Amino acid sequence: MAEFRLPKNSRITGKGRTHHAETAGRKRNFKVYRYDPDSGENPRYDNFEIDLDKCGPMVLDALITMKNEQDSTLTFRRSCREGICGSCSMNINGKNGLACTTAIEDCAGKDVTITPLPHMEVIKDLVPDFTHFYAQYASIEPWLKTKTATPAGKERLQSPEDRAKLDGLYECILCACCSTSCPSYWWNSDKFLGPAILLQAYRWLADSRDEMTGERLDDLEDPFRLYRCHTIMNCANACPKGLSPARAIAEVKKLMVERAV
Ligand code: SF4
Ligand code: SF4
Ligand code: FES
Repeated sequence: MAEFRLPKNSRITGKGRTHHAETAGRKRNFKVYRYDPDSGENPRYDNFEIDLDKCGPMVLDALITMKNEQDSTLTFRRSCREGICGSCSMNINGKNGLACTTAIEDCAGKDVTITPLPHMEVIKDLVPDFTHFYAQYASIEPWLKTKTATPAGKERLQSPEDRAKLDGLYECILCACCSTSCPSYWWNSDKFLGPAILLQAYRWLADSRDEMTGERLDDLEDPFRLYRCHTIMNCANACPKGLSPARAIAEVKKLMVERAV
C-alpha cells in the first residue's frame, strides 16, 4: 500500500535556529530546510534574516550570504549562477526552480521557504541524491548512435530544418525540476523514466542523424518506462527553461503509434 506520510526520521521536528542580520537595511526572512545525516537528528527549518541591501538580487545570492556570513555548514549545489548548469535546482516557496534565476523580489509572502527538490532522498540540507536520475539518463544512451560508416573527411551533416527540430529539446539542463514535480514520477520513479529523461530520449529520436530509432522505441515500449505519463502537465509548468517535456512525451507516443500502424 502506498505510504502517504514521510518516514518518522524524515519528518521536520524540533526548533530550528535563527540567524539575525547584523546590518540595518531592508530585511527578509528565509526559512531553510536543514538536514545533517551525521547528527542523528530529524530535519528542521532554520531562519536566516538577510539584509537585502547587502545581498544580490537572486535566491542563490541569499543562500551564499547565509553560508558566508551566518552558517558555513549550510549545504547546497551551485556552479554557473546563470541558469545553465542545473545544479541549483530546489523548491522555493512551493515551486521547483533554479535558485540562481529566481529573483528574491518575485518570491511572494512574508518568508521565503526553501526545501530540496521533492520526493528525492536528501544527502544533506538542500542537496538531493541524483544517482537514480543519472542512471535513468544513462539508460536511454544519450549519444548519437549510427549504423552507417562515418562520411570520410566530414561531419554527419544536418539540414537547418532538421536542426530546428531539436529546438525545445537540446536546451534541457537536467535540473530535474520537472521530474520531481511529476506525481507519476513520485510514485513510480523506480520504473517510470519521468519527464526529464523522456524529453532527453525524444531529443535523440528527433535527431535526423541518429539511426537507431527502432531500437530506441523498443527500449521505451513498456507500461512503466513511458506510459506512466498521464499528461498531468506539472512538468511543463515547472521547467525553468520554458521547455515542455509533456509535448516531447506526446511525440514519443505518436512515434509508437505510427510504427504500429
Ligand atoms: S505530463 Fe506526464 S511527465 Fe509531465 S507531469 Fe504529467 S505525468 Fe508527469
Ligand atoms: S526539461 Fe526543464 S525542468 Fe526538466 S530537467 Fe530539463 S531543464 Fe530541467
Ligand atoms: S547555478 Fe547553474 S543553474 Fe543555477
